[in-house]
Amino acid sequence: MRLVVTGGAGFIGANFVRFMLRRYDDLEVVNLDKLTYAGNLENLRDIEDDPRYTFVKGDICDTVVVRAALEGADAVVNFAAETHVDRSISGPQDFISTDVLGTHTLLEAVRELGIARYVQISTDEVYGSTETGAFTEESDLAPSSPYSASKAGADLLVLAYHRTFGTPVLITRSSNNYGPYQYPEKIIPLFITNAIDEQALPVYGDGLNVRDWLHVDDNCAGIDAVLREGALGEVYNIGGGNEVENLSLTRQILELLGKSPELIRFVTDRPGHDRRYAIDCGKLRELGWSPETPFETGLARTVSWYRDNPDWWRKIKSGEWREYYAQQYAELG
Ligand code: NAD
Ligand code: DAU
Repeated sequence: MRLVVTGGAGFIGANFVRFMLRRYDDLEVVNLDKLTYAGNLENLRDIEDDPRYTFVKGDICDTVVVRAALEGADAVVNFAAETHVDRSISGPQDFISTDVLGTHTLLEAVRELGIARYVQISTDEVYGSTETGAFTEESDLAPSSPYSASKAGADLLVLAYHRTFGTPVLITRSSNNYGPYQYPEKIIPLFITNAIDEQALPVYGDGLNVRDWLHVDDNCAGIDAVLREGALGEVYNIGGGNEVENLSLTRQILELLGKSPELIRFVTDRPGHDRRYAIDCGKLRELGWSPETPFETGLARTVSWYRDNPDWWRKIKSGEWREYYAQQYAELG
């Protein structure tokens, strides 16, 4: 099987490429990635010489590049996206270009080339926030941020291509992922690395917003199940079943590192900050999938990974990240 993964140099994409090459011998993986600030070939250092793996630098908005990369593929999994909510608030343009128009470029190529399966990696954020219960795949879309609105727009295009042209699509909507190789702008790697350096941990608002944490390996297993066994035209939620308030998460990270709670700083809330995400994953469980990583174990392993791999994140934190951090967290002084 020849699988094209887009955005494979990012956090989940790199973990997925590694996961699939480990799980299947007879697999060829092409990774098409633009290498934005979030793309990092260091994330794939251990498999870059694997003869079954090829890297192509390119933009999913570029019709010619996309066509060439997808030629001869049996399946495509699209991870490529602008992904950070705060950046979508300070500058939404790239989100609309990559997340919406890039998805459209891929759909056109899949249609023209007659590729058998296309999996769109989406997010639970497309459902918006809920104080009670959990969203199913049938729930209405009510995105809050330019990021989640772009992802929702892409989802609607993907489903419309299925209805109109019969394009063989599937969608996964996962909750918040955590694990190794996550860019230190997202809360878990940012707070772990700040805490290691005795820097402040900036908690937005009252810190009582809730996220459902999913270990990236459990997400990879869910995506693989959907890729192999999902029904065409269907959406599958993938959640970890680990609802945690941000403040509690922050305290757990500090405890694992033996650092003082005095590092916590409450800062101005994110505009349009969703209070709680929760999804029902019954549909994917029917395909035999369930998350295997208990949150306490997964978080402890993740903290150890960042503690053991300072070269990986220190390099990032000495580049573009510094400018972003100074602007985003100006009130920390
Ligand atoms: P990431 O920001 O770590 O990586 C994104 C990757 O996409 C990078 O390698 C980047 O270079 C690449 N990319 C960006 N624009 C591109 C373009 N125009 N053409 C080609 N490549 C491009 O993202 P992530 O956290 O790994 O998320 C991957 C996917 O999963 C995204 O679609 C995201 O919306 C979705 N998702 C993420 C989470 C999460 O918790 N991280 C949860 C649910 C869904
Ligand atoms: O739910 C899935 C989504 O999870 C993905 O689609 C997104 O790509 C991914 O970025 C993530 O979005 P969130 O906005 O939930 O993740 P983030 O790590 O940015 O924030 C998690 C929570 O922590 C959120 O309530 C905001 C809060 N937060 C975040 C940062 C970066 C803080 O309190 N302080 C911070 O500095």
